[in-house]
Parts: sequence; structure tokens; C-alpha cells
Amino acid sequence: MLTVSEISKLQNLKTPFYLYDMELLARTVSEAMRQAALYGLEVHYAVKANADERIARYIAGMGAGADCVSGNEILFALKCGFPAEKIAFAGVGKTDEEIGIAIDNGIFSINCESLQEMEIVNGIAGRMGKKANVSARINPDIDAHTHKYITTGLEENKFGIPQHEFDDLISLAARCRNIDFNGLHFHVGSQILDVEEVFSLECRRVNEIVSYFESKGLAINNINLGGGLGIDYDNPDAHPVPDFGTWMKTVAEGMKSLPGRKIHLEPGRAMVAQCGSLCTKVLYVKHGLKKDFLITDAGMTDLVRPALYGAYHRIENLTAEGKGRKEAVYDVVGPVCESSDVWGEGRKLPESFRGDLLAIRSAGAYGQVMASRYNLRDLAPAVYLDRLPEQSEQK
Ligand code: LLP
Repeated sequence: MLTVSEISKLQNLKTPFYLYDMELLARTVSEAMRQAALYGLEVHYAVKANADERIARYIAGMGAGADCVSGNEILFALKCGFPAEKIAFAGVGKTDEEIGIAIDNGIFSINCESLQEMEIVNGIAGRMGKKANVSARINPDIDAHTHKYITTGLEENKFGIPQHEFDDLISLAARCRNIDFNGLHFHVGSQILDVEEVFSLECRRVNEIVSYFESKGLAINNINLGGGLGIDYDNPDAHPVPDFGTWMKTVAEGMKSLPGRKIHLEPGRAMVAQCGSLCTKVLYVKHGLKKDFLITDAGMTDLVRPALYGAYHRIENLTAEGKGRKEAVYDVVGPVCESSDVWGEGRKLPESFRGDLLAIRSAGAYGQVMASRYNLRDLAPAVYLDRLPEQSEQK
């Protein structure tokens, strides 16, 4: 909850902007790291969720590793202080240049998504006169019960090596002289809410797969189960810190342990979603025949999740807080020339007026990083709640 003085400072800033609550970030990351330590798990923050430098540096400083999906993310993670030996690199389409960056920096693991990729990595490492640390990303063929655009572990998805190639993978790993094969990687999907059900299913399947590889003589020292822990978009203030405990307990209890074997997780959304809000002003209030519209100065270019996935984000009118205004129902929409630029239909809000400041909540993950400059719109900058500009600095 923002204080009256914070809201009045925010009210004067140029909108739209991303507001980050660094105190909530701190609480969230320390809870994730505390639970991980309790269950002996390794955490790699999925940088793709939010690549704000202050946020990434904070997470690195708390001792997490990083999960990256591009050469640029690897370089960014290194710059923010994530140690190379804690950086994993996933992605179905790594370029030779990106593979070179990963090998050159000696990162923890290049997660190869196909046999062809593993051969390419082996060749590049050979030419560089180095050894590449490699894991195989496996497609476990399980259903994460989530949106079809963010499910990744089904056989029909493009991710990972399928079961019918397991034997070829074993012989390839033995043949590749320039790779150190260090384990298996999985990731079944994102925004998973059936945590115990989906992750215990993942563990059972992963245990079977690991046993198969070990029965064929391939040692698996690292098992990376990816990310996926969901958050409460409906009511962020009820669950500001996601339930890392249930997730990590399910994984720790579900995985067969072996001395020397490490289990890794790659939370993205759960680490950063709730600490971010997209703040936007009401430009116009339009009274239609059947509906009333609030037209905001933020649009799908700033936060694409509603337009892309039909995602729900809670909307609050900060200006109206504590003013006892009567309730009204609005379609809240952005300014971009696309019919899908809609924040929410039929939203109950306090009666709202031009100039009111709205917060689109739970926008810290896959928000600012997915912004675009469509319509040549400016990119919304970051503002940190603990460093609000004073009156004199305001635009
Ligand atoms: N590890 C791998 C290999 C991944 O592909 C992902 C996310 C993660 C970890 C982190 O997953 P998380 O903990 O955040 O669920 N833009 C979409 C989400 C795409 C997720 C892609 N992969 C959204 O806004 O919902």
C-alpha cells in the first residue's frame, strides 16, 4: 500500500512509468533464497522476466545465479555481478556468436535444445581451444495446465530434446571431446498455479528420465527444473510474496537425491512480478451509449500481456484512494491503434477523471522487458519507490 505522500509525489511525475517497490523485491528475494537454502536448492533468476539493472544487481547481490536466453543477457548478467559459474543459458535458437560468448566466459551451463546444437557447441568450443559446460534440455512431455502460449514442456512444443532421441544423446555426449556434460535441464511452463500437482508430476517424470540416462552410464550431476511458479494477479496485496516454500518443498521432496547432485530452479515471474506496477494517467473519460471508457496514456506497447495473452492485471485508481468517491464501471483502454489495446473490460473503479493516476498491478515481470516502440511511442522509464524524486526534480 502506498502512503498519501508517495501518491502525491507520483502524481506529479511524467507518465507512464514503471514503479518498483524495492522493499517488496527485497522481501521476495530473501524469502526465495531462504527457502532455497532450507531445501538445498540452487536459484538462477530468469533475467528475461525483468532486466532492470538495479533489480538484477540486487538479486545477484543476494547470491542467486542467472538464467539467460541470449548472449546479451549473459553479458548483462555478468555486468550486474552474477558469477559466470552460476549462469545457465537456454534457448532453442542460439547463434554461433552467442554460443561463443557463453564458452568464452566459462558459464555454468549451455542448455542444448537439440542434438545438432550440441554438435555445433562442441565444434565452436574446439575451434576456441576451450571446453564448454553443457546440459541437455529435455522435453518431458507433461502438461503444466497453463496458457498455451506459456506452456513449454509438451511434445508438440519446440523446446528440448524428445524421448526418441535419448539414446543418440547419450552416444553424442560421449563422443563430443570439447564439452563437459554436466546434467539435464527442464522447464514445463510459466504462471503455474497447481504447484504441488504439476511440480510433483514433473519430478516423477524427471526421476524416470534421469534413471534412464544413468542406467546407460551417463552421470547426471545437475538437474535444472526451470521456473514457472505462478503469482496472484487477482489480488496482489493478499499474496505480495509468492509461495516459494510449497514449490521448493515439492521439488526437494519429489527429486531423488544423490550425494554431489545439485537441483536448480529458475524463477523469473515469482521474483519480480509483484514489486512492479505500470503507472498511467487517465487522458480521457468517454461516455459511450452502452459503456464508459477510461483512456490511459499507457498502452500495449508498455505492457503487452493483456493484448498478447488476454492476461488479467488488477487496476487501481491511486488518486481516488481515501477520497470516498462512488463506484463506476469502465472499460479501461490504451491509446494504441489496435483493438486489443485493452487493460480490462467492465472494471469496477472509483469514479475516475482526467489526470487520475492509475496503477496496473503485478507488472514487474514480462512488463518493461517486453515493451516496444510501436507507433513510435516512448519507452516507459523505471521509478523506484525508495528513490522518488523530490518536487524540484519533477518534470
Ligand atoms: N527458465 C526457462 C528455460 C524459461 O523459458 C522461463 C520462462 C523461465 C525459466 C522463467 O519462468 P517463470 O518463473 O517466469 O515462469 N512472457 C510470458 C512468460 C514467458 C515465460 C518464458 N520462459 C508472460 O508474460 O506470461
